[in-house]
Amino acid sequence: MKRIFTLVSLLLIQISSFAQAPTWNNGIGQLIYNSCSNCHHDGGIGPFELMSYTDAVSYASSIKSHTVDRHMPPWKADPSYTHFIGERRLTDEQVNSISAWVDAGTPLGTGVSPVPPTIKNGAQINRLDQTTQSPKYTVQKTTDDYRTFVMPTSHTSLKYINAVEFIPSNAAIVHHIILYHDPSTVSRNLDSLDPGPGYASNGTGAESSNAKLIGLWTPGAGIFYLPDNMGYELPVGTDLVMEIHYAPNSNAKSDSTFVNFKYTSSTPVRVVKMEMPLYHYPPVLQQASLVIPANTVMNFSQRTISSNVTDLSVVGIFPHMHLIGRSYTIFAKKGVDTTKLISIPDWDFHWQGFYTFQKLIKIPKQSLIMANATYDNTTNNPHNPSTPPITVSAGENTKDEMMVTFIAYTTYQAGDENLILDSTLVTSGVEENRKSKIVIYPNPADDKITVSSDVEIKSLKIYEMNGRLISTYYNVESIDVSMISRGMYMIEVVTAKGHYFEKLLICE
Ligand code: HEC
Repeated sequence: MKRIFTLVSLLLIQISSFAQAPTWNNGIGQLIYNSCSNCHHDGGIGPFELMSYTDAVSYASSIKSHTVDRHMPPWKADPSYTHFIGERRLTDEQVNSISAWVDAGTPLGTGVSPVPPTIKNGAQINRLDQTTQSPKYTVQKTTDDYRTFVMPTSHTSLKYINAVEFIPSNAAIVHHIILYHDPSTVSRNLDSLDPGPGYASNGTGAESSNAKLIGLWTPGAGIFYLPDNMGYELPVGTDLVMEIHYAPNSNAKSDSTFVNFKYTSSTPVRVVKMEMPLYHYPPVLQQASLVIPANTVMNFSQRTISSNVTDLSVVGIFPHMHLIGRSYTIFAKKGVDTTKLISIPDWDFHWQGFYTFQKLIKIPKQSLIMANATYDNTTNNPHNPSTPPITVSAGENTKDEMMVTFIAYTTYQAGDENLILDSTLVTSGVEENRKSKIVIYPNPADDKITVSSDVEIKSLKIYEMNGRLISTYYNVESIDVSMISRGMYMIEVVTAKGHYFEKLLICE
């Protein structure tokens, strides 16, 4: 039952392993497996496999060019601005190592070859409370196909969604998914008007003004977890509304996507809301209207007040523009303090996503939430859908424009700054921990715990589950926990190799 967390980034390990000329066996192979294979495998969204040395050699020159131009792995948020969970971004050193490896003729090197990753299929959430499947749909287009499916729910009391996972049956064609719930009948009426399963949509989100965004998925995204005591409200009788973007060239291929939920079981629940504080009309928009005349590049800005009464803890952010949007930067300001939220310097409608912060971000009450965006409605913009360009204004169609940002947040509580949201650590953490042989026992514990480790332990820290640090111990291997009241805690083991997190249950 125990889950093991670690904050050690695989990236750090990889950088250090490139002291000599890069070879497949001394680091490149592991780098490709870590950064590319979760999309580039049999049945994945990537157009070819990167699951072996031979695969990588066959595509060596395009691997080099598309990592150098940062097209791959796709990651649009500027890492020098803010960091998020699951950042699919290579460091400059890693890009250079790949190039050097390709230039040197893709050497295999000596020693043992890395083992390709096992691509997991099926549900990964450890406790599934609800699973819903979209009806089987066969794509009818050779171009992008946006389809929205409406599925009734059957729960009989208000639920709070704590974790969401999406499992397309045909991951090779699903480009991204946006999930709402709609308590009104608007979405189901649209569905009944369209003869096929679901209804045709245009990638711009739910039509119902009552719909609430509850999740987003892009290939390679893992389970979206909130801390145990947080959840999105899912009222009784509401419909799940799932817009799926099927990639071009998926004609005649079928999919049916599962969406799995885990509900929050602890009380009291901290309710997480996904709202849209920034939208493209005055008074939030600082210009009279979002209109971009043909053959112009225009800047727009937005500002709104965060909350007059409460400090907020932000979980994640979802910026949204359409095809001629080029950049979007969002931040909060209070007095002289600026809190950076996200910067997307090279917007791409095809790689939009929900970005979850690694830790909760505090936005004090009466802050301004502000944004700047650029739109390029010239022929220089490769994504411009019209040649010659035509005047574009705000609207729902893909060829119209938008400038909106959703923010997922909860009311701030003391200690939120320490709450770690990064749960990609759940899976990578287990393996890392095994390698480093850190064992914490007994767990559950009532009296004393011992930490055994093959590397020197610098300190041990115990946190409450809300992130509050309760004690730090230096240079010890055993802790007396008999004085700590019973309950679930997080223990952090700090060693020269990094940080390891594990849940610790204290019982009587
Ligand atoms: C999140 C999923 C994902 C990840 C991670 C990913 N790719 Fe891709 N890759 C794609 C998709 C989808 C395409 C085809 C569409 C496109 O080019 O945007 C693609 C296309 C490519 C292409 C062909 C581009 C072209 O236009 O010819 C190369 C080369 C490539 N990927 C290499 C890599 C390498 C190397 C990595 C890791 C460093 C990687 N990819 C990581 C999804 C991914």
